[in-house]
Amino acid sequence: MKFGILTSGGDCSGLNAVIRAICLHITKNMKDAEIVGIPDGYGGLIRGESYPLRREDYENIVGLGGTILRTSRQPYKLMAVSENDGPTRLQRMCENYKKMGLDCLFTLGGAGTHKTAALLCMEGCNVIGLPKTIDNDIYGTDITFGFQTAVEVATDAIDRIRTTAASHSRTMLIEIMGNKAGWLTLYAGIAAAADMILIPEIPFSVDAVCDFLAAERAAGKTTSIVAVAEGAVLASEAKFKKSERTFVRTERGESTVTKHLAEIIGERTGYETRTDVLGYLQRGGTPSAYDRLMASRLGGYAAKLALAGKFGVTAAVSGNRITFNALAEIAGKYKLVDPNGDIVNFAKGIGISFGI
Ligand code: F6P
Repeated sequence: MKFGILTSGGDCSGLNAVIRAICLHITKNMKDAEIVGIPDGYGGLIRGESYPLRREDYENIVGLGGTILRTSRQPYKLMAVSENDGPTRLQRMCENYKKMGLDCLFTLGGAGTHKTAALLCMEGCNVIGLPKTIDNDIYGTDITFGFQTAVEVATDAIDRIRTTAASHSRTMLIEIMGNKAGWLTLYAGIAAAADMILIPEIPFSVDAVCDFLAAERAAGKTTSIVAVAEGAVLASEAKFKKSERTFVRTERGESTVTKHLAEIIGERTGYETRTDVLGYLQRGGTPSAYDRLMASRLGGYAAKLALAGKFGVTAAVSGNRITFNALAEIAGKYKLVDPNGDIVNFAKGIGISFGI
């Protein structure tokens, strides 16, 4: 059999551990198996590029960040668009899947990658997805690989920011990745004892934010830490689509929600307020031991599914078990933070504000 592997969308820690585990499981359990890497995610498949993955390519990569296959973003909405009256990207990918002689394609990616993977399945390709993203927002899995490392990085960053904030008696707003889902901000915020956590799932009120911070200062607090998801929204903007929100913000001359909010907080409370955007630090670097283990388990399991001929699925974590979901059932759905769920209620119970 011939197997292809690609990594698609934003990278994260653990991608290489998955690649390694897939390769090791297949080569250990099937003689004469051929494994190829497809570079740049779906981009490489569209162009029809692949190269053999040899043992020396993958044996020492379990602790390596990024992806040895490289990645790219190929928007789902462009898959059915034909270029210069030629075949669509989807058609080109299906043709190249056949030309390469693949029996199975592993797609390591997030929610967008899974949507395209489901399309490929519908066109007759044998695909197995793997749940990657620091956002932890893939439907049907308790956890995605890459998330836990990002939580560690963001927590460590907030810890560091806290010491300088304390020296200067400042209010610090720390922007954490996550456009649709606030998992990363929520987990790192709780772990690093943030006073306030602002996430897309719980639109906040500027008045509530300022009142809470002012009340804390009045009660004797000298430093305030606010963890803000990059996709956090004001209650007044919640009804808008993302594009409309971006337009309105640009019209108002705002750069990001974090900067905008920091200015208002500074003006209204009178305390020195600063922002810090953690950005790509959260995606880069060495995967945690947890992510190496989780990614390896998911990779080995996906390879096992492939050898059993179980396609059109994505590996997933449920409790402490590795399992699978049908791609057709989970594609296009997101797993978001439940504003009334246990973890949010717990956080509120220990005094963390969500700006409402
Ligand atoms: O992959 C998820 C993610 O890291 C989001 O949290 C973030 O909004 C986005 O990717 C950034 O994407 P890009 O790498 O395209 O700037």
